[in-house]
Amino acid sequence: MPLVIIRDDITRLQVDAIVNAANSRLKQGGGVCGAIFRAAGEDKLQAACDTIGFCSTGDAVITEGFSLPARYIIHAVGPVWQGGGHHEEALLRSCYTKALQLALENDFQSAAFPLISSGVYGYPKDQALSVAMSAIGDFLLQHDLMVYLVVYDKKSFQLSTQLFESIQSYLDEHEVIEEDYDRRRLLKNRSLEDAAASFDYDIQCVEEKSQSSSFQLTGELSDVLNHRSESFSQMLLRLINESNKTDPEVYKRANLDRKLFSKIRSHAHYQPSKNTALALAIALELNLDQTADLLQRAGFALSPSSRFDLIVSYFIQAGQYNIFEINEALFAFDESLLGA
Ligand code: APR
Repeated sequence: MPLVIIRDDITRLQVDAIVNAANSRLKQGGGVCGAIFRAAGEDKLQAACDTIGFCSTGDAVITEGFSLPARYIIHAVGPVWQGGGHHEEALLRSCYTKALQLALENDFQSAAFPLISSGVYGYPKDQALSVAMSAIGDFLLQHDLMVYLVVYDKKSFQLSTQLFESIQSYLDEHEVIEEDYDRRRLLKNRSLEDAAASFDYDIQCVEEKSQSSSFQLTGELSDVLNHRSESFSQMLLRLINESNKTDPEVYKRANLDRKLFSKIRSHAHYQPSKNTALALAIALELNLDQTADLLQRAGFALSPSSRFDLIVSYFIQAGQYNIFEINEALFAFDESLLGA
């Protein structure tokens, strides 16, 4: 199941478990830990934590949620940042993985994480974010769980400067303002209409010829003709077959819910949202032309006046198909996320 980044107060979430950025002694602290203790009921939660007593850095333990809307609290202890040379990354990754394993062992359907270590513990925010995304993303490629990564204030969510700048300069170079785009589209549509008319004429000639026994179609042209009237679902299923990927691999890499994927699979004329169609193009690692073709089957196109489309195109052109990284960037640019 998918990973979604949301901006919220974690104590308000109605999920099976929220994760606390705890300390090893499991004592009430400040930051998100203080907020969780206050919302759960300080005395009851502290008593439950004292019964457990201790949790090593990189590990996680579980208590009830008491007065919280969430049923449980998973207390995960992240590392204090000491410059990066003290296994901080491995320890931070480990506390996410341990917390996720606890969620799995308890048959939870959903869990919400804050950005562990990114506050009082001083882990650089961009690096804390990318460890979180990568640890949760890797886990979700193997397991089904709905995970929320909760960003309390936008300041605590930072993309690496290099990636941010690189996307920004791609946008500066490719972004087209609306009127300019409309004018270009008008011109392009005119030439497309001409091209389409001539294409239809060519196809008609080829089809007529192919009916005569002496004419053999070449492989590629025959493919185009065969796939001309494919619906979105039909094209998707063909691409999945050709890619040798399994269905779970595809919907997990698309950050999609299994149920939604089976709907698409079982309805030949299913009409996906643009977001879903693009997420599937990413999962299948399609190039820009193939992506445009798949989107077109659902009635959509990539537009140079849409930041969302451009950011996704940036990653496709760079051959980077990790949907969690793409979503990290989309969130940083205040755009909606892929999948989920
Ligand atoms: N909901 C979601 N996120 C929150 C909330 C909230 N209500 N309050 C704070 N945060 C965010 C912060 O913006 C930060 O990005 O949680 C992130 C983690 O910050 P801290 O709570 O400071 O956690 P951490 O850096 O892991 O330090 C842990 O702080 O209070 C103590 O007991 C805690 O000793 C432990 C240490």
